[in-house]
Amino acid sequence: MVRGARRVVALTGAGISAESGVPTFRDAGGLWRRYRVEELATPEALQRDPRTVWEWYDHRRSFLASCEPNPAHHALARFFLGRGVAGLITQNVDGLHTRAALEAAGDAPADAALPVELHGVIARDRCNSCGARYPGEPLGDPLPRCADCGGLRRPDVILFGESLDGTLLARAQAMAAAADLCLVIGTGAEVYPAAAIPWTTRHAGGDIIEVNTQATSLTSVAAVAVQGKAGEVLPELLG
Ligand code: APR
Repeated sequence: MVRGARRVVALTGAGISAESGVPTFRDAGGLWRRYRVEELATPEALQRDPRTVWEWYDHRRSFLASCEPNPAHHALARFFLGRGVAGLITQNVDGLHTRAALEAAGDAPADAALPVELHGVIARDRCNSCGARYPGEPLGDPLPRCADCGGLRRPDVILFGESLDGTLLARAQAMAAAADLCLVIGTGAEVYPAAAIPWTTRHAGGDIIEVNTQATSLTSVAAVAVQGKAGEVLPELLG
């Protein structure tokens, strides 16, 4: 199916980075089983107690900087580079797909392998008032402010209850609609609108291949559901 597909899109979630040592969110040991979303990852929490929210993201940011892309990130990067058509959509904010794409491309343009990062990029800051973007820096005191408007800076990630970037979402939806195969890798497929991406391909007449260590709501609609670790399955599936 992968070889025969005309146009492939891939949607990834936290599970693809699990073998890089990055905790997932909802399965055993997941972050949202140990921490409270409403205290750490909502716009209300940011307004009420920005330092607590900042400290949580700053901690994750420095941890993620020490993680490396794994064979699943590398396999996807090589796959899309080889096809020359962008198809990678991720919910992850860890930047590991981008690093794998830049490594795979070497001196060549990495565009085809660069992901659409629907939930943002943890390594970046964004002004909470005017939206200006900045490279992230280690957290200090006072909290970082925007050089343009003086507004509070925040990690450039989508918090629960916030809308996704409309341009990125439209791009991802168009990619999914144009695809005849959607690979869904390491996501519980519970968080919308990202979870609708595979359905877009399906409704346009395409197929879904799921790669996950467990069953999800997509398993029964997938043409093929491969139960296994992304880092082991993807090099074989895309090689
Ligand atoms: N290989 C493949 N799949 C795996 C692996 C692995 N090595 N390890 C875990 N998984 C699967 C789990 O079975 C689970 O279905 O990865 C999935 C992870 O699901 P979630 O923790 O719900 O993560 P995700 O789907 O990415 O969450 C979506 O929720 O909190 C928000 O913004 C956050 O982007 C995130 C979004």
